[in-house]
Amino acid sequence: MAQIIDGKAISAQIKEELKDRVSQMKAEGREVTLAVIQVGSDPASTVYVGNKKKACGYVGIRSLSYELPEETTEEKLLGLIEELNGRTDVNGILVQLPLPKHISEDKVIGAICPEKDVDGFHPQSVGKLCIGQPGFVSCTPAGIIQLLKRSGIEIAGKECVVVGRSNIVGKPMALLLLRENGTVTVAHSKTEDLKSICRRADILVAAVGRPKMITREYVKEGAAVIDVGIHRMENNKLCGDVDYEDVAPVCSAITPVPGGVGPMTIAMLMNNCVESVELQAK
Ligand code: GUN
Repeated sequence: MAQIIDGKAISAQIKEELKDRVSQMKAEGREVTLAVIQVGSDPASTVYVGNKKKACGYVGIRSLSYELPEETTEEKLLGLIEELNGRTDVNGILVQLPLPKHISEDKVIGAICPEKDVDGFHPQSVGKLCIGQPGFVSCTPAGIIQLLKRSGIEIAGKECVVVGRSNIVGKPMALLLLRENGTVTVAHSKTEDLKSICRRADILVAAVGRPKMITREYVKEGAAVIDVGIHRMENNKLCGDVDYEDVAPVCSAITPVPGGVGPMTIAMLMNNCVESVELQAK
C-alpha cells in the first residue's frame, strides 16, 4: 500500500519550526511583517488571503491587510507597492492573483522590490532560481520539495516528470528538481504520448489543472505521485489532477487532495517571510 504523504502534518511541523524562529527573532527585537494586497472580492482569493493572514497570526508574523476595490487603477496599485517597498517595517509584499483585467500582472509583479518578493514571482527571483543563486522560490513547488525530503523520497538521480509548465508551478518545479539533481522532463498539453513519458517517472508531479486526468496508465509501479490540482466535483467533494483511487494501489507514495500539496503553499510563504527579514538584514 502506498505511503500517504501527509501535507497537513508536514506543514504543521514547518509552521512550528517557524514559530520558534519568529519568537527567537522577537526576543532579539526583530519583527516579521507581511503586507497582503487583494484587489476586488473574488471569493476564492478571499479564502486564500484569509488563510494566509491566519497562518501569519499563528506563526507570529504581523500582517498588514490592503483590501482594494475592483475598480482600483493600476497606477494606484503601483503607488501602494512603491510605498510598501520603501517602508523598512514591511518585509514581505504579496499581491493576490488573479488581478482584475485592467491591471497588468506582469507590471505589478515586476514593481515589487525583489528583496520583498515572498511569492517568488519577480523575474529576478525566477532568474536567480534558474542560475542557482539564492532567492525567493515560488511557494507551491518549494513546498513539494519539502514534502519529498521530509517523506524520505530521494530525488538525486531519479527520473522526474512534471506535467504542466505554468510560471507559478511547472517551471519552478522543474528547476527545483534539477537543483536537487533529479533528471527532469517537463511535459504539457502538446506533449506526444504523454502516458509513456509519465510512465518513465520515479517522481511524477501533476500540475495540469484537469480533474482526475492522471490514471494508473500514466504511472510506473512504485513511483511517487504528487498532485498539485484541486477541483470541486459535482458532489461538492474535492479532487486533484490524479485519480487517487485508481493510482494509489500502484505507487509507492502519493499526496491526497485535500491535505497534500495545498497546506504546504502557505507554510512556505511563512518561511519566505521569515527569510525576507534575514535577507534584508544583510
Ligand atoms: N493566486 C493563486 N495562487 C497564488 C499564490 O501563490 N500567490 C499569489 N499572490 N496569488 C495566487
